[in-house]
Amino acid sequence: MMIQENINLKPYTTFGINAIASGFATFSSVDELIKLIKTTDKGLLILGGGSNLLLTKNIDAFVLKNEIKGIDIVSKSDDEIILKVGGGENWHDFVMFCVENEYYGVENMSLIPGSVGASPMQNIGAYGVEIKDVFESLEALEIETGEIRMFTNEECSFGYRESVFKRALKGKYIITSVTFKLSLLKSLNTKYGAIDSELANKGILNPSIKDVSNAVIAIRQSKLPDPKVLGNAGSFFKNPVVPISIHQTLLSSYPSAPSYPVNDGFVKIPAGWLIETAGWKGKRIGDCGVHVNQALVLVNYGTATGQEVFDLSIALIQDVKNKFGIELEREVNII
Ligand code: FAD
Ligand code: EPU
Repeated sequence: MMIQENINLKPYTTFGINAIASGFATFSSVDELIKLIKTTDKGLLILGGGSNLLLTKNIDAFVLKNEIKGIDIVSKSDDEIILKVGGGENWHDFVMFCVENEYYGVENMSLIPGSVGASPMQNIGAYGVEIKDVFESLEALEIETGEIRMFTNEECSFGYRESVFKRALKGKYIITSVTFKLSLLKSLNTKYGAIDSELANKGILNPSIKDVSNAVIAIRQSKLPDPKVLGNAGSFFKNPVVPISIHQTLLSSYPSAPSYPVNDGFVKIPAGWLIETAGWKGKRIGDCGVHVNQALVLVNYGTATGQEVFDLSIALIQDVKNKFGIELEREVNII
């Protein structure tokens, strides 16, 4: 249990931005976590893979990086398996474990960076699947009492890139493990996005779980920048959910404006389309910019500061609001 002081968090976040934390330690068990919390009266910042964070300043807080490992089988029947996974496991490694063992349910979420412990925070999702679809429960340490509490799917109040941990319980719990329910019966979802066409291009008619995972990985690699090469945190904004009438108004000026049905008269408009149509795709200001292949991703070309990336996000929000009357909401956590 080594506590470090004044450590640069640049290598710990995928944006790769300099920010000094006054305290830093890793924990690989709940006991270690409890002991670490007792050593400080500073605020805490819990870190997984740092892939959904923008640090805009130095941080006078105790940064605790989750390294609790382990994938345990809780139960197995003829048709499903329940797995309890340590919050510090890498998400993609966990997905690969499921793909290799033919546990169905998370393959469409291949290659999402970050930790298993952060996955419920914003109910991660991709290609038509969200973790709420395979989520059984989680365990979290209540910071104030030091007690472990279990949360069911319902108690997490999952929504599109939302959970109770981003709202009412923000900053109150540290997720230590997540339990998933996966199918042992072949069940694949290839209808969303370009998965079907990616499989067809490869001549695959009856895909395996591995084929679907590989297709998702190929699609993602074709548009999303690799954080090891170009700093970023994935989609910087959420796709706005608006009443259908707003989309209909948009169509009168932009007949090809895309939208996806949500429910009850609402549609999702791709924020990437709004940002691209506003003329920002590929724009670079100093060392930060809007990615050339995916306008929803803001990037750090090397020496951008967190404040510069944040300022760019303000400019994008204002311009999209002026041009389309639609307010973008950040997805990335700003510190
Ligand atoms: P971090 O960035 O370390 O933390 C995120 C937030 O959760 C912070 O507020 C942190 O304090 C808090 N936190 C972290 N761990 C815990 C814990 N154990 N307990 C309590 N609080 C915690 N997301 C998607 O949903 N879908 C995608 O397709 C997707 N694609 C991406 C592609 C790229 C290239 C990148 C860089 C990011 C992408 N993301 C995507 C965003 C990101 O991968 C997810 O949000 C991921 O779950 C973040 O995990 P993390 O461990 O890196 O979290
Ligand atoms: N688009 C553009 N220009 C762009 C980018 C997108 O016009 O530069 C439009 C196109 O119409 C395209 C549509 O947006 O068809 C959707 O684009 P894409 O399939 O790339 O997905 P996205 O909506 O930009 C969302 C998630 C991703 C997730 C993918 C696949 C959000 C905020 N983002 O992106 O999640 O991987 O769908 O399911 O919902 C993340 O959360 O960090 C993330 C990467």
